[in-house]
Amino acid sequence: MLSTTEPAQLCRSGGGLSWQILPDPPPSLPANLPTGLRGRLLTAADATALASLRRTVIERQLDSPDYYRLEAESPAFPASHLGPWVMGDQGLITGLFDAEQELIAYGALTLPAPGEPSRADVLAIPPAEPDNLAYLASAMVRADWRGRGLHHCLIAWRQSLAQSLRRRHLLAAVWPGNHQSWGHLVAHGLPAKKLSPIGNGLTRLILHRDLEAPLPQPDPASRLLIPLDQLAAQEARFAAGYWLWRRIMATDGVFGVLARPRPEET
Ligand SMILES: CC(C)(COP(=O)(O)OP(=O)(O)OC[C@H]1O[C@@H](n2cnc3c(N)ncnc32)[C@H](O)[C@@H]1OP(=O)(O)O)[C@@H](O)C(=O)NCCC(=O)NCCS
Repeated sequence: MLSTTEPAQLCRSGGGLSWQILPDPPPSLPANLPTGLRGRLLTAADATALASLRRTVIERQLDSPDYYRLEAESPAFPASHLGPWVMGDQGLITGLFDAEQELIAYGALTLPAPGEPSRADVLAIPPAEPDNLAYLASAMVRADWRGRGLHHCLIAWRQSLAQSLRRRHLLAAVWPGNHQSWGHLVAHGLPAKKLSPIGNGLTRLILHRDLEAPLPQPDPASRLLIPLDQLAAQEARFAAGYWLWRRIMATDGVFGVLARPRPEET
């Protein structure tokens, strides 16, 4: 059982990060994880296991190759996220291990350097502080472990890390077809605010949450239900101020709920 204290304890001992900057574990860790599951931050010693998990998922366990495109990653990833952690490092990777100590899931948190160009530019986030961004950059769960709340756990854990690192603006970029990914992120308070080209002919929803602001709310009067296969064609609506708030799994398919935020929240 993954107790609610484990990730923080393991983070503390796991790689040289000053433990004071690590948070208490998120309250939303699933209570009923299978016996033996453990969590900690990955280090350079986990590089081979991480490469193997990523290869397995990318080559054999994606519903569509568009769900995860290696060309959208920084060439330095994931090595740049495996410590040792000192000022200027680029990020962290949370990992979950089974009872045999095999890595079965990970989630990356990228910490851009002050002034680095970022997806925050398309959202016009005010650069009040130069180093206040964090990306929920990449997450994978091995297929035989899916549907047990591990992705939700990895999102909550990284959200709590970002908060303790004083990275108030949490961002993510997700292919519109990958509703498993954006459906979970919007449920954690990151509505998609833009549909944006990210290079290489790829388009991504840009999701955002300001951890220091109250959760924004949709204006029900502007609510639209968009079938999943039409989401990538909603650029004009996003440009006109609509956000994506929720995924609905219906008998006749998957839908996204678009709506404008209440006026006081734009
Ligand atoms: C997208 C992906 C990470 C989701 O992982 P997952 O571990 O299956 O996701 P979860 O188990 O957290 O959520 C799946 C469902 O199980 C449910 N669930 C089952 N047991 C649960 C528990 N104990 N606690 C919480 N949720 C639970 C969740 O509520 C969720 O339902 P929802 O989709 O209606 O919210 C996984 O499919 C994956 O690795 N895909 C390939 C790579 C990829 O696309 N990554 C994302 C882009 S970077």
